[in-house]
Amino acid sequence: MGSPLADMMTAREAATTAEDPLADVCFWGTVDGDVAAMRVLALRSLDAYGIGVVVSRTSPKWRQMSLGGKVAVLLYWATVGRQFRVTGVLAEMPASILADQWAKKGRRARLLEHYYDVHGAQTSPVPSRVTLEAGMAELEQRFDEVEDVPMPDSVVGLVVTPTEVEVWHDREDRLHDRWMWRLIDGVWARERLVP
Ligand SMILES: Cc1cc2nc3c(=O)[nH]c(=O)nc-3n(C[C@H](O)[C@H](O)[C@H](O)COP(=O)(O)O)c2cc1C
Repeated sequence: MGSPLADMMTAREAATTAEDPLADVCFWGTVDGDVAAMRVLALRSLDAYGIGVVVSRTSPKWRQMSLGGKVAVLLYWATVGRQFRVTGVLAEMPASILADQWAKKGRRARLLEHYYDVHGAQTSPVPSRVTLEAGMAELEQRFDEVEDVPMPDSVVGLVVTPTEVEVWHDREDRLHDRWMWRLIDGVWARERLVP
């Protein structure tokens, strides 16, 4: 019967070809106390293992996940008329894949990860833009001689391996196709949903 991950990968490839502005992002939802918290994250990997992102352990989203909060991921590519609503099992990305992702990060993005460690956690208040830029300037100086800025331990790669995926297929007649996939004893089963 196939798998929703295969569908997702095919749709993402088509979205990339169609230059979909959302081809390289995902919408990541956590539970913050008794309310949902959403944010956009760069979609770092989408393969047979699942959906991978890279975040800082200093961030609220990391705290929410490490407190046992559940994670939901949403992918939407208008160019190919597909939405995927995913829930699944969260795991750390293998170190070698995280290292590959770090290698793709530009210098400023790398320094910002150090900023979180040294000057202020991600999403914490900062008095002014000047303070922020002074912190970055300090890091520029600190790593002045270092071309390949190293990855701080606070950077973590996360992968959601789906166990449930709801797929929405756009149809011109407006009676869209919707499917709920569930992984049961290692086998994907799906049922049609009323759109
Ligand atoms: C297009 C786009 C891509 C983003 N990619 C990331 C990312 O890969 N990692 C990240 O931590 N934040 C990323 N952000 C910022 C997050 O949306 C969010 O503001 C930040 O991670 C703080 O979230 P938190 O306070 O819930 O932890 C991105 C934002 C946008 C608009």
